[in-house]
Amino acid sequence: MALVHETDYGTPASSSTTMVELTIDGVAVRVPEGTSIMRAAQEVGTTIPKLCATDMMKSWGSCRLCLVEIAGRNGTPASCTTPVAPGMAVSTQTDRLKRLRKGVMELYISDHPLDCLTCSANGDCELQDMAGAVGLREVRYGFAGENHTVQAKDESNPYFTFDPSKCIVCSRCVRACAEVQGTFALTIEGRGFDSKVSPGMGEAFLDSECVSCGACVQACPTATLMEKSVIDIGQPEHSVVTTCAYCGVGCSFKAEMRGNELVRMVPYKDGKANHGHSCVKGRFAWGYATHRDRITEPMIRASIHEPWRKVSWDEALAYAASEFARIAKKYGKQALGGISSSRCTNEETYLVQKLVRAGMGNNNIDTCARVCHSPTGYGLGAAFGTSAGTQDFDSVEHTDVALIIGANPTDGHPVFASRLKKRIREGAKLIVIDPRRIDMVRTPHVEAQYHLPLRPGTNVAVLTSIAHVIVTEGLVNEDFVRQRCDWEGFQDFAEFVAEARHSPEITESMTGVPAADLRAAARLYATGGNAAIYYGLGVTEHSQGTTTVMAIANLAMMTGNIGRPGVGVNPLRGQNNVQGACDMGSFPHEMPGYRHMSDDATRDIYEKLWGVTLDAEPGLRIPNMLDEAVSGRFKALYVEGEDIVQSDPDTRHVTAGLAAMECVIVQDLFLNETADYAHVFLPGSTFLEKDGTFTNAERRINRVRKVMTSRSGMADWEITQALANAMGLNWSYKHPSEIMDEIAATTPSFAGVSYQLLDEVGSVQWPCNEEAPTGTPVMHLEKFQHGAGRFMITEYVPTEERTGPRFPLLLTTGRILSHYNVGAQTRRTANTVWHPEDLLEIHPSDAEQRGIKEGSFVRVASRAGDTSLRAHITDRVAPGVVYTTFHHPVTQANVVTTDQSDWATNCPEYKVTAVQVSLSNGPTDWQSRYSTHSDEARRIMATAAE
Ligand code: SF4
Ligand code: SF4
Ligand code: SF4
Ligand code: FES
Repeated sequence: MALVHETDYGTPASSSTTMVELTIDGVAVRVPEGTSIMRAAQEVGTTIPKLCATDMMKSWGSCRLCLVEIAGRNGTPASCTTPVAPGMAVSTQTDRLKRLRKGVMELYISDHPLDCLTCSANGDCELQDMAGAVGLREVRYGFAGENHTVQAKDESNPYFTFDPSKCIVCSRCVRACAEVQGTFALTIEGRGFDSKVSPGMGEAFLDSECVSCGACVQACPTATLMEKSVIDIGQPEHSVVTTCAYCGVGCSFKAEMRGNELVRMVPYKDGKANHGHSCVKGRFAWGYATHRDRITEPMIRASIHEPWRKVSWDEALAYAASEFARIAKKYGKQALGGISSSRCTNEETYLVQKLVRAGMGNNNIDTCARVCHSPTGYGLGAAFGTSAGTQDFDSVEHTDVALIIGANPTDGHPVFASRLKKRIREGAKLIVIDPRRIDMVRTPHVEAQYHLPLRPGTNVAVLTSIAHVIVTEGLVNEDFVRQRCDWEGFQDFAEFVAEARHSPEITESMTGVPAADLRAAARLYATGGNAAIYYGLGVTEHSQGTTTVMAIANLAMMTGNIGRPGVGVNPLRGQNNVQGACDMGSFPHEMPGYRHMSDDATRDIYEKLWGVTLDAEPGLRIPNMLDEAVSGRFKALYVEGEDIVQSDPDTRHVTAGLAAMECVIVQDLFLNETADYAHVFLPGSTFLEKDGTFTNAERRINRVRKVMTSRSGMADWEITQALANAMGLNWSYKHPSEIMDEIAATTPSFAGVSYQLLDEVGSVQWPCNEEAPTGTPVMHLEKFQHGAGRFMITEYVPTEERTGPRFPLLLTTGRILSHYNVGAQTRRTANTVWHPEDLLEIHPSDAEQRGIKEGSFVRVASRAGDTSLRAHITDRVAPGVVYTTFHHPVTQANVVTTDQSDWATNCPEYKVTAVQVSLSNGPTDWQSRYSTHSDEARRIMATAAE
């Protein structure tokens, strides 16, 4: 295996459709208008020396190394900044050019440390390469003059170093941070000889605005910005293209290795979701894969009060299967169930639902999408006939108005946020609907036209009010609605939203959104050109989550903002494979491809293939499994890669359910909180240790490729297969590609998917079948999946979770950039430097009333439970609203969240909990108990007591 090498064309591709013909060194070239000479040359295999240019960003023209001669023109223009022209005759290798380039390189090298042999970039340094490329053999100026070769290194960032002595001030890092990432953390300070790269106002990287995305490190042509892992381990020698296992953006990476050791993850330029960009998690936070906390041997115990006993795989699997058989015999087959993981591959989730349906004989299968995007499935399915986002991420390039509701892309979906910010810098308008002033409301060079800071729980009222403005002000796209939607249904809907009670002036007192802002935002969305809606869990995790999704679909249809690039409805999926877990039949009422269990034809396909009779009745959802367990009817659970104790609401109810079961199997990387209640622990594998596919928020099926051997000896699909076989199912998949073949053969929207196709084209978006052999980037182009688009009546029903004298504040929850969900992975990396503990954000007026100061330890209590954590006073949250993240088990925000849930899908109402906040003397009882078995918890609790 060799390093996957991507060509750097020097400047970005032009999107023009007009072609230009020219010659370069006598060779005819045909490229799109607007292409640079440098790129055109590279297209025909002629590499022009360069230092300041790279194809991830616009040309800069500062190094003067890429000079060329053009017949009939004077001088030697820079090829990176000069566009091609028809009939142009370019020379790239003349004596004059060689002389000039050598002179440029001499100047660079005379001010550069001569430690190439021991430099960490040796072998991967463009300065070194260019010295060779121009044939530099001596430096006439010597090395004794004034120079920059002795300067202090900045090692503050946990993942990369900044060694200014090696900087050639090419500005690639500064431009990467601005153009690609959109953070603008770097500047070139000073002029001429004194110019230097500076994070922030001359701060250390760690103290600056830097979000550690790595774009500058990737762009740097020298060892100035360098991954610490490369410095420690050495240059990688082979690489494999795979997919990030954190969020639903689904970034492609080159996993660069030395032997079996991962050296670095480099974002892959050909990755269709990320186009060579990344965030701190995918780029740097992979150390958990080899963390000492990994459990690598199976363990069993007869009771959760006994210590674990390490056993062989055979013994663990035989024990698990015998327990399942015993429990099914004693309590009936409905006493068993499983939970599949949105962290695992499509192939693995497919096998878990197959094990439950074919092996346990019921449909008691659910997934963590239950607690995040199940309302998306239901709501979009009802409106459009398909339970998925309508666009690809590239679509944002054509968006004129972006409406973000209940999502915080800079923290939750950072690579997409960078693209959105870029589009806004280019002139697109932005509307943000969120109780918090998220970064997108105002961040360098990006400002939302409207921020509607609604009261948590009033999404439906706000969106219905927007629809009211569109209908009553005559802004409906009637042509679209008549042609594409159910016209009669629309008329009922229009009559409903036009009622005066939905006007912004009436809803203002309920939602907290000023009527004038809401009206203006509605007009902008309806009339501002291509308008796209992006939403997240702030939409779905409510008692009216499904209604809000339907309200979003209504807005898109009534304004004709669906069915072409630049528009659409875009759920920003949380976990790396939550889309795939849903697609693969992880819900108790649906087989793969969202086909209902009651559909005879679908059941027939699987019954014939699997040789079993399938239950036509939907099974239990996660909350129902727990209820049934507490009632003594549900007794055995197979949990693959999910920590329901930490991630599901009302922790006391979850633990009571688990404690009441007789056999809980946890398959995971670490002994998580749920494992406290397990009888069998099966050590899982990381994404680096297996083959498979993930499906991202764009419905894009990306390959996951094995880069190192599994620490536990088995990939998760192999474990599920071994368990199935211990249960007598007789499966014989030899590779995940065979599982994908079965999925394709039985699921119409996946019919054209195969590993061969994915290897050929990189990735595809489903539906991928005979009609769309290379996938479907934008859905509903001509018609909706089920024919006419359906409008839904979205009556606002306030949540029963109300504030009152006992619980006067509303708690809402979210994520932070550096951590992922329950933090099992990111807490085991250096990312903790940015977020060592969860904090409670509270408005200054609410803090003052309670005597709370910055950093005070506070108790947050709801009717479900209480927890203690430190306060952070900020006006990001409105008065009456408090906010926290949920990444650290020692604070467990879900101890406080209640059992309220979405009316259609049971998705928990994480985003609205009535609470009281008061000064606290220290940890609660359960936190004190918890702190006995966690270093991290002990540290937080020790400082809390000070
Ligand atoms: S790591 Fe990213 S955010 Fe930080 S300075 Fe580099 S490009 Fe900017
Ligand atoms: S740090 Fe690297 S990318 Fe930035 S100016 Fe210096 S050499 Fe160029
Ligand atoms: S966490 Fe998401 S945005 Fe970050 S690298 Fe991974 S897939 Fe990309
Ligand atoms: S690469 Fe063209 S001027 Fe630097």
